[in-house]
Amino acid sequence: MNASIDHAYSPPLAGASRSPCPALNALANHGYLPRNGRGITALQLVRALVEVYNFSVPLAVVLSVVGVVLCGNWWSLDLHQLAKHGLIEHNGSLVHDDAHPHEVYAPTAVDPKLVAQLLALSPSPSLTLRDFARARALRDGSIPAPLDKVHSEIARGEAVLTMQTFGSGDQNVDEVGGLDGAVSKAFLEQWLGQERLPDGWHKPQVPIGLVGTASRSRNLAKMIRELRKSYSSRCREHTLP
Ligand code: HEM
Repeated sequence: MNASIDHAYSPPLAGASRSPCPALNALANHGYLPRNGRGITALQLVRALVEVYNFSVPLAVVLSVVGVVLCGNWWSLDLHQLAKHGLIEHNGSLVHDDAHPHEVYAPTAVDPKLVAQLLALSPSPSLTLRDFARARALRDGSIPAPLDKVHSEIARGEAVLTMQTFGSGDQNVDEVGGLDGAVSKAFLEQWLGQERLPDGWHKPQVPIGLVGTASRSRNLAKMIRELRKSYSSRCREHTLP
């Protein structure tokens, strides 16, 4: 990537295209993807994911090709095309409202109330994988119809990619979450809330790959199942408010 390009944060100008994905919007807001969010090729996506977030090339290729082929025009996409409801986009997102009934595109603006709800899940200054499991269970319980298998997998994938990209291994290590430890709320506020690369954050030292992502996603699925079981037994015992 051209080192002379300016990568300072700048919010999108009027008419720029943006997606429901904080990772890609932040890349556009910092000029690692075209700042207008339009005509983005799979190659541009792969390069940016590898350079900025240290994704492995295979994982970056899978995500980018699926995004461009499924939502774009085979060759390239405008970020807003990723908001087409029911393709990759799904209800029960952590920081975006659900698609309005009969709307083709889901909202791309972040809902500050959902950001606050996510960050309030733990009194500590960071969130663990277990907190993300609680967040998913909470959002899954708030939507009119459960997510199908593919969209549940996508929703878990979003959480584990976030943990791997922004998690630190040295604080509050979770026994099932393993090496990712916890994600600083300050990072999440900036990345999820303002769609900018957080101050003081450095990309992971080890590339984020397909195998590690799949295994963390299985851990997260297990945690969510356990939480659901405990919620339903507490409901039966009338110990929930
Ligand atoms: C080419 C790569 C990517 C594509 C095509 C893509 C696409 C999407 C789409 C369509 C959504 C909306 C899903 C929903 O309804 O919530 C989404 C959300 C999300 N993506 Fe990405 N994404 C990519 C890369 C990444 C990366 C690298 C990360 C993490 C480092 C990431 C993290 C997230 C998160 C956390 C959300 C959920 C936002 C919310 O819950 O409100 N994505 N992505």
